[in-house]
Amino acid sequence: MHEHVTHPVPAEWAANAKIDADAYALKYRASVDDPDSFWLGEAQRIDWMRAPTKIKDTCFDTDNFRIKWFEDGTLNLAANCLDRHLATRGDDVAILWEPDHPDTPNRQLTYRELHEATCRFANLLKDKGVKRGDRVTIYLPMVPEAAVAMLACARIGAVHSIVFAGFSPDALAQRITDCESTIVLTSDEGLRGGKKVPLKANVDAACAKAKVDTVIMLRHTGADVPFVEGRDVDWAEAVAGMSAHCEPEEMNAEDPLFILYTSGSTGKPKGVLHTTGGYAVWASMTHEYTFDYRPGQIYWCAADIGWVTGHSYVVYGPLMNGATTLMFEGVPNYPDFSRFWQVVDKYEVEQFYAAPTALRALMREGDEWVKKTSRKSLKVLGSVGEPINPEAWDWYYDVVGDKRCPIVDTWWQTETGGHMITPLPGAHALKPGSASFPMFGVQPAVVDPADGHVLEGATEGALVILDSWPGQMRTVYGDHDRFIQTYFSQYPGKYFTGDGCRRDEDGYYWITGRIDDVINVSGHRMGTAEVESALVDHDAVAEAAVVGMPHDVKGQGIYAYVTTMEGVENTEELRKELIQWVRKEIGPIATPDVVQFAPGLPKTRSGKIMRRILRKIAENDTGNLGDTSTLADPSVVDDLLANSPHAK
Ligand code: WTA
Repeated sequence: MHEHVTHPVPAEWAANAKIDADAYALKYRASVDDPDSFWLGEAQRIDWMRAPTKIKDTCFDTDNFRIKWFEDGTLNLAANCLDRHLATRGDDVAILWEPDHPDTPNRQLTYRELHEATCRFANLLKDKGVKRGDRVTIYLPMVPEAAVAMLACARIGAVHSIVFAGFSPDALAQRITDCESTIVLTSDEGLRGGKKVPLKANVDAACAKAKVDTVIMLRHTGADVPFVEGRDVDWAEAVAGMSAHCEPEEMNAEDPLFILYTSGSTGKPKGVLHTTGGYAVWASMTHEYTFDYRPGQIYWCAADIGWVTGHSYVVYGPLMNGATTLMFEGVPNYPDFSRFWQVVDKYEVEQFYAAPTALRALMREGDEWVKKTSRKSLKVLGSVGEPINPEAWDWYYDVVGDKRCPIVDTWWQTETGGHMITPLPGAHALKPGSASFPMFGVQPAVVDPADGHVLEGATEGALVILDSWPGQMRTVYGDHDRFIQTYFSQYPGKYFTGDGCRRDEDGYYWITGRIDDVINVSGHRMGTAEVESALVDHDAVAEAAVVGMPHDVKGQGIYAYVTTMEGVENTEELRKELIQWVRKEIGPIATPDVVQFAPGLPKTRSGKIMRRILRKIAENDTGNLGDTSTLADPSVVDDLLANSPHAK
């Protein structure tokens, strides 16, 4: 039913938007018909040190594979976020920081202050031996210093690798080792919803497993934490002695900017590598057009800097565009369920951008929490990270936005650097739950998952992208073969997104979710293989298979089937222990929702686990399990059905 509800572009939006329907159509055509001219135009938004003359040189065919954008251009991204604004808006607020608890004093940094802090910290990094191209691991909470650290790396040409501060010491150590970084930036503790997160202790534990020479620690909560002589550095003390002048390094457009680890369908997390020039153009352009951003507006993206959304839409995109970007340390339900909307009112936020999981959690608590706030400053609402179900969409639109604010449901990925498919607020009529239309330069196609042929018109299948866009990742750090293998081999010559998708009769795209072994838990990507490998690391576990299950708030929950070792008793204690174990091994976001003991897993005679069956049981969709005749032992299915929590 919902599909038939369409919200037309409001008249004042059609009249005043940066991009209206006609402008979208024209620009989109130009972007795919003549990418060189289009992107040369968009490149003007960047202050280049040497302007690029070569714009696009890309090919997805594996025998001639290359992705190069603006390849002879040089620039510095920190200078584009900071220095270029000093003359015109040096005293405007760059970062507004709202702490975990509303009674804690907030902070704000002007562009001038952020510039100075960045230069000092950049000099500290140099002082500690960090050179152009070196990797720097950042494990910080949502504090302005996290942005300072990112910008300082960009300023000296170091490559940052941010690890979400909710990850475990093991997960952190693995990421430090994979990118061979010997320096870690952290704080004593993090603070979320009134709870302390032992970040420094986690770093200490990670250092026991990874080779780290230097830890720079910010004092944030003031907790008394151990300090390792010769390795640990006190952030504030060290920075005080540094010069506030630091020349930005001249970087090539294709020099690496950052690595961000993300989950795939197999093996360990992969280090998605983004380069400088294309990413800069992409993050700046998408931030401006998707949010219809105009200088002076207070903009808030509620994502953590540990995810790509925090990179592109808390820090780089907004700062390149001279925005005032709000950084929120806390959570939506602390001290109470009005927190988001109180913060919106406090700063008169005009664009608000969050994940559907947060909206669903708040929606459950009733409308009063929203309605007692004003929210009249809001102009655009954004959604990101997972499909937004029409019920949550309607609530966001009706209750949060008072039916005034267009919703931009932005589909994209860590790999894509920025928005790929999204409505633009002044250009597209909205259909609740649809990510709508491609961004400039993006050529989506729907292919038959079986044979990869391109499907036309209203259809459903696997979502691929036919040609490169500037913000595309360039490689998996240290494993270029894996990059090609993962994204370009399934459907040769095309970028495979891992997502399923439907295109309706009006050409709107509807993302249906992952069709590989990745699940999306509260907007966080999780490889089922990672959870499985954590489980089999436990002494009692012989084998594990993990699938997603529908979850009202999280979107998807984690459902684990576990076969224990011979002689192990499958007790309630063990079940709880396994849940805690995964939490400890990976981090709280990986906590399994269900652990089902299974004497056997459904395997084909060649030993392959039939995940289709496991998914159906987890989804409680057991009416038609499909063909089970190829199973080595079809009777295991009966046991799985009888012991599923749904059966009880
Ligand atoms: C999913 C987050 C539906 C999708 C920016 C994608 C979405 C994965 C949407 C990437 C959306 C993201 N509608 N699904 N608007 N946005 N996804 O790398 O499955 O953390 O492949 O990037 O999230 O997650 P990632």
